[in-house]
Amino acid sequence: MKEDLINLKNQAIAQIAECKDLEELEQIRIDLFGRSGKFTLASKEIANIPVEEKKQFGITLNEVKNTLEEQFAEKRNELNNNARVWFDPTMPSKLPKLGKLHMVTHAINEIAEVFEKIGFTRMKYPEVEFDYFAFGALNFPENHPARDDWETFFVDQPESKKYGPMLLTPHTSSGQIREMLSNKPPIRMINIAKCYRRQIDVSHYPMFHQFEGLVVDKDISITHLRGTIDHFAKSFFGPERVTRLRPYHFQFTEPSFEVDISCNVCNGKGCKLCKEGWLEIGGAGMVHPNVLSNCGLDPKVYSGFAFGWGVERTYMMKSGLSVPDIRLLYSSDLRVLKQL
Ligand code: PHE
Repeated sequence: MKEDLINLKNQAIAQIAECKDLEELEQIRIDLFGRSGKFTLASKEIANIPVEEKKQFGITLNEVKNTLEEQFAEKRNELNNNARVWFDPTMPSKLPKLGKLHMVTHAINEIAEVFEKIGFTRMKYPEVEFDYFAFGALNFPENHPARDDWETFFVDQPESKKYGPMLLTPHTSSGQIREMLSNKPPIRMINIAKCYRRQIDVSHYPMFHQFEGLVVDKDISITHLRGTIDHFAKSFFGPERVTRLRPYHFQFTEPSFEVDISCNVCNGKGCKLCKEGWLEIGGAGMVHPNVLSNCGLDPKVYSGFAFGWGVERTYMMKSGLSVPDIRLLYSSDLRVLKQL
């Protein structure tokens, strides 16, 4: 019996010596000392041993147990030391992933800078507006289709007696009214803000950004409008670019124009990208006399010009970026955003 114990001990010592990890070591320990472990079963044999051998058997049991426990403790230490990761606190750390500004934020900053340099003040007006500021005061007739539920997002709020229903601004032109009502001429403002329309397809999104310029003073003429637009085109797109005005219609400007900029791909000769050498950039015009009157300004004394263009579209024209689907800009997909 004693020999069995010694054999058990020697086998276990060999196993412990060869053992490579803590998990395996624990398994060896369970196989020995667990409830039906080899050592546990062997120690129970004491009951069947003749009385005169019991004492010696007990001593051997203890000796084997102590030796093995020592072996386990040593091995555990050794394995623990190996497992500890070597750590050098002087090593440079992993850099955290840095975020960056969204393309539209870059565009807004660049656009604002061009106008601020020529004396425009950056303004911001409410995105949730009353009908009066977005349409009424801008000379839209009562039944104008832009007021239709299918064009504009109306807000589910009681109507104001004075200003009509609430809505999400469909253009930054509402800022013209707010500006003229709260500041006296000379006015030179650039209002860059979100706009909302009921539209969604590859080139339209229900939320987009516009930048709106407004200049009101005595003796403001189309020449000032042309000069400002030309200055923007050259500063933002490059000195070789030129602009042209095409007659158009807006309720709140008279005369009204669509502004085109010469195509940079074909240099105005005409190519696949443009319409005969020109790219359409947005609307502009001279502030309508009714709009001036609605804001308490005498159209015989004051005149002004305004323009309102899409930020996303203008920036894409500059960078040559073609985003195949405008919805990608606002999709939070890092694979897209990282490229911009
Ligand atoms: N508000 C017009 C639009 O959203 C653009 C515009 C602004 C036109 C200012 C003329 C003057 O299309």
